[in-house]
Amino acid sequence: MERGLFITFEGADGCGKTTQLKLLAEYLTEKGYEVVITREPGAKGLGEKIREILLNYEGDVSDRCESFLFLADRAQHIDMIVNPAVCAGKIVLCDRHTDSSVAYQGYGRGLPVERIKMLNELAVNGRHPDLTFVFDIDVETSMSRVGQVKDRMESAGMEFFNRVREGYLEIAKQEPQRVKVLDASKSVDEIHTEVVKLFEELL
Ligand code: TYD
Repeated sequence: MERGLFITFEGADGCGKTTQLKLLAEYLTEKGYEVVITREPGAKGLGEKIREILLNYEGDVSDRCESFLFLADRAQHIDMIVNPAVCAGKIVLCDRHTDSSVAYQGYGRGLPVERIKMLNELAVNGRHPDLTFVFDIDVETSMSRVGQVKDRMESAGMEFFNRVREGYLEIAKQEPQRVKVLDASKSVDEIHTEVVKLFEELL
């Protein structure tokens, strides 16, 4: 491919998106594509330090500070990892991206959604996903998958995660061309089949 692709995987904690990302990566590698697996926050380098603060800092973190840290990580990630790979013709599969900020900091924390979208634009500097999968699951199931040991974000509570879920569904409603919602309560194989079908449609 002359220009690669940028595909993002989204959903609440415990929705199974990372498993699906890996399965699609295996499928594409077997087909001969060059695949880059990456994530936000904290792909590598500076991002890993930002991730450490975001997930493990034990003091108070203001909602706006939290937003800017995710955005700072995103700008670094786009410039250092995503853009070079897409420009080199690779398929970039990214675990979380801009929609996480809209769903978590916008709908979840209650910051103005339009402003978060504007700040996202600043962070990505024109690079947008070609396709986004949202793995939708009810909050009780996703929380039970996360388990007892929770990081700072996962400790935000049921109401927070209900708002996050609504946020994702709203994003999908607004951008149906880019954002595809999958029922994450189905089996891993069933979901993988749907992911591959949607990927083929994109091609
Ligand atoms: P991670 O351990 O990567 O969670 P997961 O495996 O569910 O992706 O932690 C990332 C956490 O950060 C997750 O709770 C979602 C949250 N997050 C935001 O709140 N805003 C963002 O912009 C991003 C990228 C992630």
